[in-house]
Amino acid sequence: MEVLTAPEHVAAWSAQARWSGHRVGFVPTMGALHTGHASLISQALRQCERVVVSIFVNPLQFNDLNDLARYPRSPDADRALLEELGCHALFLPDEHELYQGHRPMTFDLGGLDTYWEGPDRPGHFQGVVNAVERLFLYVRPDKAFFGEKDRQQLAIVRHVATTLQWPEQIVGCPIHREPDGLAMSSRNVRLSPSDRERAPLLYEALLSTAQSATTGSPAQAQQAGLAVLARDPEIVVDYLGIADAVTLEPLDSWRTGREAVALLAARLGEVRLIDNILLHPSV
Ligand code: PAF
Repeated sequence: MEVLTAPEHVAAWSAQARWSGHRVGFVPTMGALHTGHASLISQALRQCERVVVSIFVNPLQFNDLNDLARYPRSPDADRALLEELGCHALFLPDEHELYQGHRPMTFDLGGLDTYWEGPDRPGHFQGVVNAVERLFLYVRPDKAFFGEKDRQQLAIVRHVATTLQWPEQIVGCPIHREPDGLAMSSRNVRLSPSDRERAPLLYEALLSTAQSATTGSPAQAQQAGLAVLARDPEIVVDYLGIADAVTLEPLDSWRTGREAVALLAARLGEVRLIDNILLHPSV
């Protein structure tokens, strides 16, 4: 695996791969890689002849400097996992080089940042899209792979890629879960042992929401999930809501022919977790 730090080196690596007739797959990450990332990378390796992964903890998307400082980092384990998976290149940009000569841009996010994570994390999604734009500029992938766990991020990147006619194809990949249902996340390692034990209740709540959505209204489905979470007063719920799966607009009735999703954010101790599940209402 080639390890590239300079943006112009990854650009040259990618150009060479494309010139040789290979499709370039790209998995942007912030490191602390886990099985969920491995599944994105495996999907990229199945669809593309050359795969590059970036590890860049993007300061622009953190509202809280403590959160940035505490973000887990495991460079040696990450590199070993990428070698084991058969990844072709690792891009490790330096913040100053990646953003050299770049003034943060304000993208039209189509209002997709108005809900859910948006209000609590002002500027977060603009920060994400600024990083993705810079990474795409150098990597120039044919396909870029994003996890559905960050469903709002995926929806926003798709929206920007479509409206700005970015040539990259954005591929969404399913959520990977621990055997007890907890969605895999780099933040899980920061859970205390007792919070780790209570964390699967989040998925239980989503399953209950999805079950209720098959017969009830969005409000009933939401209540079913909240009732599960209420069993543990140590879990602080930021939101559990029902939305259109594409526009992420909150729903008070089901829309025929449109997919819906339940979105959840909750805090366990100092760790904030997000998760979501697709719903199948009978309309
Ligand atoms: O999902 C992430 O890890 C980050 O938000 C991303 C897409 C790498 C942008 O910094």
